[in-house]
Amino acid sequence: MGTEKQFKPKIYTDPDKSSDFVIRRCTTKDLDAVIEVNEAELPEDYPYFFYKSILDHYPESFLVATDPHNKNKIVGYIMWRIEKTPTLSNLRLDKKGHLVSIAISQDYRRKRIATKLLKKSMPAIRTNGISSYVLEVRISNYSAIELYKKLDFKVDRIKENYYRDGENAYYMVKKV
Ligand SMILES: CC(C)(COP(=O)(O)OP(=O)(O)OC[C@H]1O[C@@H](n2cnc3c(N)ncnc32)[C@H](O)[C@@H]1OP(=O)(O)O)[C@@H](O)C(=O)NCCC(=O)NCCS
Repeated sequence: MGTEKQFKPKIYTDPDKSSDFVIRRCTTKDLDAVIEVNEAELPEDYPYFFYKSILDHYPESFLVATDPHNKNKIVGYIMWRIEKTPTLSNLRLDKKGHLVSIAISQDYRRKRIATKLLKKSMPAIRTNGISSYVLEVRISNYSAIELYKKLDFKVDRIKENYYRDGENAYYMVKKV
């Protein structure tokens, strides 16, 4: 008989820290909290009716992340819309999924919440028959650019003076 080994419970740490959070569709009741996150985290503000209109038109890809350990507080959101542009032949319109906005509250960053919001919302906006996903990002926004590159978005071109303060944007594209 060998010596009895002391039982050590195996500690499992989930590499996907975002599983501590709940991702669900946004509702009208959530809009004030979404706007609060936006205003705290991004210089681009939108009026209430803009959020409402995105929610009315594209509810399947307007998602929020909530913290079940903090009264289901909304800690992040993502919203998309469809952009239609004429094709060269003008015989039909080309549809693109345009990322309107994504933000995660400061205290909840680097937990893969943004990654999860993107991964869950992209198939939803894709159901509109899009040819690609597109977005603009400030050329100084290193963290967001890294996030998008990780999800295979590529810089397509620079949009000069895209933002009100004159900063340029990268126009990033991912083909479906
Ligand atoms: C950009 C933003 C949405 C990322 O949210 P997040 O939940 O922290 O991102 P994730 O945890 O999913 O990060 C995924 C990957 O993105 C990259 N990334 C995210 N934050 C980063 C940072 N501060 N520095 C470097 N890389 C970063 C990393 O590659 C990261 O993977 P890793 O943690 O395994 O290294 C968040 O920083 C934010 O809300 N910023 C302010 C709003 C904003 O800029 N929105 C985008 C406008 S275009």
